Amino acid sequence: MTNRGRFITFEGMDGSGKTTQMRRLAERLRGMGRTVIETVEPGGPPIAMKIRRILLDAANQELSPVTEVLLYFASRAQNVDEWIAPALGRGEIVLSDRFTDSSLVYQGFGRGLGAETVAALEAIACRGIKPDLTLLVDIDAEASLARARARNVAEPHCETRMDDQSIEFHRRVYEAYHALAAREPDRVKIVNGRTGIDAIEREVWSIVAHYV
Ligand code: TMP
Repeated sequence: MTNRGRFITFEGMDGSGKTTQMRRLAERLRGMGRTVIETVEPGGPPIAMKIRRILLDAANQELSPVTEVLLYFASRAQNVDEWIAPALGRGEIVLSDRFTDSSLVYQGFGRGLGAETVAALEAIACRGIKPDLTLLVDIDAEASLARARARNVAEPHCETRMDDQSIEFHRRVYEAYHALAAREPDRVKIVNGRTGIDAIEREVWSIVAHYV
């Protein structure tokens, strides 16, 4: 399937600030008169948000790696079918806070399920939809865990199952993101997540302006 609209994803370690950046980009694009759909993974449409609750609930410690990857793709399939594909078909801009690249780095490499497994599920769930542009908001594993844990203390909630993984897991994720950016430099653009929110926004816009 060809995208008539533009599909832009934000990726990065937890606590990288990608969610704030995506919100700012959406506001800017709407201010320019563009129609923008914002979604998040896992999640998006109500059914996918129910799957999100299973995936991120810290109580679900027994969730096996295979169940986990299938649920991430189940959420994604619903997001693609219900929101993303129709919006792209209408020529709109879709912004997603994470997409298949997250499954590649967290399940494929973090969990060790392998890139082939992720590619096989992508072929079923995504119906050929790939991001036109991916912004990787870059912070290291140590900063990521520190920020995520500080946030969980400041705003207690139960969506911490992934933050509870070891530092080694998060380091594998970090390495995998960088390997991906090196492999697909035309699509995946690294944005420095260690500067301030406004500086990151300027860097994001300097990249996105060429794509919309
Ligand atoms: P977030 O909404 O705070 O980014 O949290 C989502 C968590 O789920 C985050 O730790 C990354 C993880 N995740 C995966 O492991 N695989 C995936 O495919 C996606 C979309 C997210």
